[in-house]
Amino acid sequence: MESITSYIQEHKQRFIDELIELLKIPSISADSAFAKATTQTATAVADSLKAAGCDTVEICETPGYPIVYADKIIDPNLPTVLVYGHYDVQPPDPLDLWDAPPFEPVVKTTDKHPDGAIFARGACDDKGQMYMHVKAMEYMTANGKLPCNVKFMIEGEEEVGSVNLAWYVERNQEKLANDVILISDTGMIANDIPSITTGLRGLSYVEVEVTGPNRDLHSGLYGGAVANPINVLSKMIASLHDENNHITVKGFYDKVEELTAAEREKMGEAPFSLENYKKALDINAVYGEKGYTTNERNSIRPTLDVNGIWGGYTGEGAKTVIASKAYAKISMRLVPHQDWEEITELFKTHFESIAPDGVTVKVTPHHGGQGYVTPIDSIGYQAAEKAYEKTFGKTPIPQRSGGSIPIVALFEKELKSKTILMGFGLDSDAIHSPNEHFGIWNYLKGIETIPYFYEYFTALKNA
Ligand code: BES
Ligand code: MN
Ligand code: MN
Repeated sequence: MESITSYIQEHKQRFIDELIELLKIPSISADSAFAKATTQTATAVADSLKAAGCDTVEICETPGYPIVYADKIIDPNLPTVLVYGHYDVQPPDPLDLWDAPPFEPVVKTTDKHPDGAIFARGACDDKGQMYMHVKAMEYMTANGKLPCNVKFMIEGEEEVGSVNLAWYVERNQEKLANDVILISDTGMIANDIPSITTGLRGLSYVEVEVTGPNRDLHSGLYGGAVANPINVLSKMIASLHDENNHITVKGFYDKVEELTAAEREKMGEAPFSLENYKKALDINAVYGEKGYTTNERNSIRPTLDVNGIWGGYTGEGAKTVIASKAYAKISMRLVPHQDWEEITELFKTHFESIAPDGVTVKVTPHHGGQGYVTPIDSIGYQAAEKAYEKTFGKTPIPQRSGGSIPIVALFEKELKSKTILMGFGLDSDAIHSPNEHFGIWNYLKGIETIPYFYEYFTALKNA
């Protein structure tokens, strides 16, 4: 029987090579041109789980991309860990901002990753982090170190809202029954400051369309006499925040969880350098809601952001035109107790109410999901904390994240179990951006830490 550290030493090149192979498949769930590759990725994941020692491996068809389910049940009386991850990735555009093509992985060192990092779309979010679990499983089964039952559920539609996963979970409660859900799809503060994500924000994503005249018009002949949908949309969007950067949508804050002064003080103890934060983003000042710190603004406070805005002429040169229509995509990040469907309704009502005469507006909801907070006194959290203490030599800091994994709240509702978010990425890993990467040190540290979670969780559960 080998220790996890020596197993990693012996096999690390293969671990890296296998991940690189997986990263070469462009599993872009948002773009139907990549449907074949996305489906093929499910097969690759299934094969890797079989090779890692799972007894049951299934590719479960859904109305969309398949869900890979695998398990190894060693004793029904032992606890069961359910691992969730996703094999789909975000679209890689803009392609010209990548130093190397997004699906031709390269290893390079960076300031934050002196041991090298794998650059590719999905390296961190989430193929690299998901694959840590596959390799941890391989170690445990190959060395007689699996202390409990394991189930894997790896989906291909996380980046487009997990609609079919919700469908699957609602229909397979029995099959997915577990004692704790384990996910690596978040980040940590720094390689020498481990942290465990204890919260995710909810999300409401909408698209708006503003229509003015029935056709595009000459901006000289008609300009000044009819509502210009782009001008109007800009004004409407600008009015969604007041001078303190509070969101003006009526009722938006009604259910927002307010943290106590003590909780905020505790949060404020997490190491954070505003100088480094600004430097990393090349900005000379941060910006946000009055009365809150940067870390509060991007975790415990809700937000409203335009993600894209278009209309009219955007080609080369100048064209004098008043467009008939203008569009924007708007996301609202939500915090505990805000209900995403209710917020979507509030937004729609508000946005329609602020439209001036001369235009009509249409609000189309996209996907969404509830926020999530996990308690730090659960057995799952304590097992994770001990695992980090073992491999990092430090107690991890509990920290709420600003990102969203909407399906986590649904897991709790349908499967009645808590989720532990053991993320090993860094905020600087550029997920969803050009040049996404994942540190090799982080990848191997994840593989090293995960088996301890299983060991401690089983021990605490049986205690
Ligand atoms: N893995 C991310 C979420 C994340 C990243 C949470 C880092 C915390 C820290 C996930 O793949 C993601 O991108 N989620 C989307 C929402 C989804 C519905 C498209 C997001 O947060 O924008
Ligand atoms: Mn992800
Ligand atoms: Mn993502």
